[in-house]
Formats: sequence, structure tokens, C-alpha cells
Amino acid sequence: MKALNRLPAWLALKQHHKAMRHFDMREAFSADPGRFADLSAHFGPFLLDYSKNRITRETLNLLFDLAHQSQLVERRSAMFDGKPVNFTEGRAALHTALRAPATPPLRVARQDVRPLVHHELGRLRAFVERVHGGQWRGHTGKAIHDVVNIGIGGSDLGPAMVCRALEHLARPSPRVHFVSNLDPAHLADTLDRVDPETTLFIVASKTFTTLETLANARSARAWLVGRLGEAAVAKHFVALSTHRAAVSEFGIDPDNMFVFWDWVGGRYSLWSAIGLSIALALGWEHFRTLLDGAHEMDEHFRDAPFEDNLPVILGMLGVWYANFWGTDTYGIFPYDQRLSLLVPFLQQLDMESNGKNVGHNNRPVLYNTGPIVWGAPGTNGQHAFFELIHQGTRLIPTDFLVGAVNATPLADQHEWLLANCLAQTEALLKGKSQDVIEGELVAAGMSRRDAHALAPHKVFPGNRPSNTLIYQTLDARTLGMLIALYEHKVFVQGVVWQINSFDQWGVELGKQLAPPIRHALDPANPPGQHDGSTLGLIAELRRRRAS
Ligand code: F6P
Repeated sequence: MKALNRLPAWLALKQHHKAMRHFDMREAFSADPGRFADLSAHFGPFLLDYSKNRITRETLNLLFDLAHQSQLVERRSAMFDGKPVNFTEGRAALHTALRAPATPPLRVARQDVRPLVHHELGRLRAFVERVHGGQWRGHTGKAIHDVVNIGIGGSDLGPAMVCRALEHLARPSPRVHFVSNLDPAHLADTLDRVDPETTLFIVASKTFTTLETLANARSARAWLVGRLGEAAVAKHFVALSTHRAAVSEFGIDPDNMFVFWDWVGGRYSLWSAIGLSIALALGWEHFRTLLDGAHEMDEHFRDAPFEDNLPVILGMLGVWYANFWGTDTYGIFPYDQRLSLLVPFLQQLDMESNGKNVGHNNRPVLYNTGPIVWGAPGTNGQHAFFELIHQGTRLIPTDFLVGAVNATPLADQHEWLLANCLAQTEALLKGKSQDVIEGELVAAGMSRRDAHALAPHKVFPGNRPSNTLIYQTLDARTLGMLIALYEHKVFVQGVVWQINSFDQWGVELGKQLAPPIRHALDPANPPGQHDGSTLGLIAELRRRRAS
């Protein structure tokens, strides 16, 4: 396949962008009363309004041409069919299989993966029901009241985000806690809040080699053994992993292990055994509904024409801004406090997937790939960093997410939440001109001269883009669909950028460098070979720790 920047649609988009440089969305809305209807899409509980973008129908057609010329259709089939789309590791990326029905067969390396998935779901369900039913008891015979998920990255962010988002659906017991950081304070603070006799530890690690997780798991094990004895481990530790031997070596009985497979990427793993903490917190039915929602989005992504396809639309709009407008970042603002952990989750999903600079042809790419993803729940962000989106010098594409229906007894506050969400996107679009501001200042009693001096500081340039994604209310189905929507958006972009969205070699170097530095921090050892700055920092830390 041709390099991206030599595809006809790319070249056409370059030309088109020149013509669009002074495009004003406000004029486009005035000229076309049908713009909202034309540039919005419905699927399931979602309305995606993408009319507040610097686009015309022609832009979209060119973007869809680019998707076709990038072989999105073929690559999408390859992913769903279990082909080794993760080509640097020779693996499939089959998170879609984790949430799909048990038929028809789907073979990876000649093995039908459907029965594997459904067998493991059955084991998980039976375990969850035993914990909830009080048949699974701790070593001293007491029921489980607290669950501590020990994992990091994909073995933490997804389950933690879902548990937070659906906390209103959670069972009264067990309470689920998440420990990820190597900083011992994370584990120690959590252990302070739980009782060893009624606590279950889940050690969640795809590889079962991750430093942070193994360190926390060892400390948790020592804490438990110190209080209840070695025999207690069997009733208080379970493992979620692809690596049976490492689990056994760690000292967890493989009977207490739930498996997944190397074709499940860490950041795509909440649908697998890694979702055990979700099922324990919410109950099996809600977990199953979450999977079903994601499956609905999978089918939409696989079957809907590009023009109606939410992940394709979002993905290609991101390409439009990153590659033709030169934007570097992407803001995501859920006006939904329950989605407060969505942005950290999406940061891993997007940046670990598409933070790449080498393409399919094994050469550096000549264009921007994944953006810096950032954001926070609205309305908090409004009082912190929205200034920069409205008045800063950079163009920042954004997604605003909001539930239409109040999900709490506090209806009036929800009206204000909705109003604020829409007000921000309207302000980004409309802006406020110098003339209007000067007029307001003079009407308020300021002299013309002072008003003229002050007004530029109060100008909102406007014409700034946003997508608005409205859903009904945040339930398990909607959340499953939402996560899958972003998973597929990231996939679409990786295909266009001709990169492998499913490996993460960029995390390795820091892991390799940490052990010799740890060695060097001990004054009994030589400092080793490091750059001048690192040597200086090691010396400073040695000094401070000696005193
Ligand atoms: O270091 C990055 C990473 O490998 C992520 O891709 C992964 O989600 C995380 O670490 C945790 O890995 P594991 O589940 O193997 O402990």
C-alpha cells in the first residue's frame, strides 16, 4: 500500500484544507439550517453532534475516501476475524471476541476461541456467585466483604473506571478497592481499611511479571500471612493472567486463577477475566450487560456505512485536525462525575495504542500520529483550564459527553449541568467579539477609551471545534458501548496512520533502566554508567538518604 501522505485522498485533503483555512462555522450554520441534522448521527442511546467542526460535506467525503484508501474495511475485517493485526508481536487483537456470542466459530491458530471465552466466563460467573452467595469464605470461615484488585495499566484502569462509573449499580458488598502504584502508600492505605479475615485479593496481571503488581502482591501476601498464616492464601488470593507458570511460582494455586489469552491487549482487557472486580462489585448481570453493550457497538462499527459509523466519524475527524490543522492535543470532557476516571482510561487506550512513530513499512512516519489526550469532568474543568480552550493560542479539538436524564434525586442541578455543557460548546463556536464587549463595557459605565483597552482581553475568538455525545443515562449497556466506541475510534486512526495500535514497545526502555539505577542508589555499589544528570541525581539521593 502507498504511504499515507501519497494517497490521492490525502493529497486532496491537503488542497481542501487550503480552501478551508478561513472556514467559519458560524457562517456555515447561518447559511445552512440543516447543518445540525446533516452532521449528526444516532446509534443506540447516542446522538453524536459533530456539526460544530471545521468541516463541510466535502471534507467528510474526502475523509471517508481516505479511510477507504487506507483499507479500513479490509483491516477492520482482519481484526474481527482474528488475523495477526498486531504484526510486531504476531498476534491477533480480539477483544471483540470477549464480548461476542458463543457462535459462529472463530479460529486463531486453528483453535476456535469462542468456547475458550465462554468457558472462562462460566468459571468467573460461578466464582462471583459463590462470593456473593457467601459460599466462598475466607480462611476463618467469614464471608468476603472487601476485594482489593492489585494491577496496573490495563489491569487497573479499565476495571477501576467501570466500577466508579457504575457505582450507583453496585451491590452493598463486597466493596472493591484498586491498588496500582509502586508507592507503598497506595497499598498501605488500602490495607488500613480492610480486615484480613474478610478480604479477597485479586492479582491482575496479563504477564505476571510487572514490577508494581508483583511488589504490591508480595506485600499484600506477607500482610495476610502475618495475620492469618500461610494456609490462608488459598482462600484470599486469586490471579487473573495469561501466565499459569508465573502464577503458580508466585504461590497462588492455579485453581484460583482465571485466564485470558495473548490476543487480548492489556488496555483492551476489562472484558476478560480482568473484569472480575467489576463483576464482584456490580453483580454478574451488569457485567454481562456491559459486554453486550460493547458487542452492539462492535456490530455497528463492523456493519454501518462510514457516513453513519460513530467510531469512523470520530476517528476521521481526529485525523482531520491532527494531520491537516496540526493540532497536538485532544480534550475529553464528560459532564458526568461518574465518568471521572474515563480520561485516565482513554489516555492509556489512545496514547499507548497510537503513540507511535514507525509505520507498517518499518520506517518512521512523516506525519503526526496519536494526540496527547487530556481532560476532566465538567463542570470542574470550566473552573480550571477551559480558559486555554477558549482564549489560548492553540486549536484544540474536543469531545463533550453528557447524559440527558438525571440519574439522581437532585433534578435541578442536572438541568444546570446540561446547560453548562451546551453553553461551553456554544461559547467555543460563537465566541464574543470586541465590538460586543466594548458596547457592554460602555453600557456598564466605562469610558470608551478604557473599554477599548480592556475589550481585547475579554474577546472569545470562537470558531473552535467540539463534538457533543449525548446518551440517555449512564447504565452498563451505555458504558460498554461508549468504551467500545473509543476503542474502535483509536483503531480507525491507527489504520489511517499505518501504525500498529496493539503493541507498546515504548514502555520497555524505562523498565530496563530502572534495575541498574536501583542498584546504584545503594552507596555500597558503584554508581555505574549513566549520563551526567542521572549520575548527579543518584549522588544527591545517596547523600540525602545517608543523612
Ligand atoms: O507497561 C505497560 C503495560 O504493559 C501495559 O500495556 C499493561 O496494561 C500494563 O503494563 C500492565 O501489564 P500486566 O497486566 O502484564 O501486569
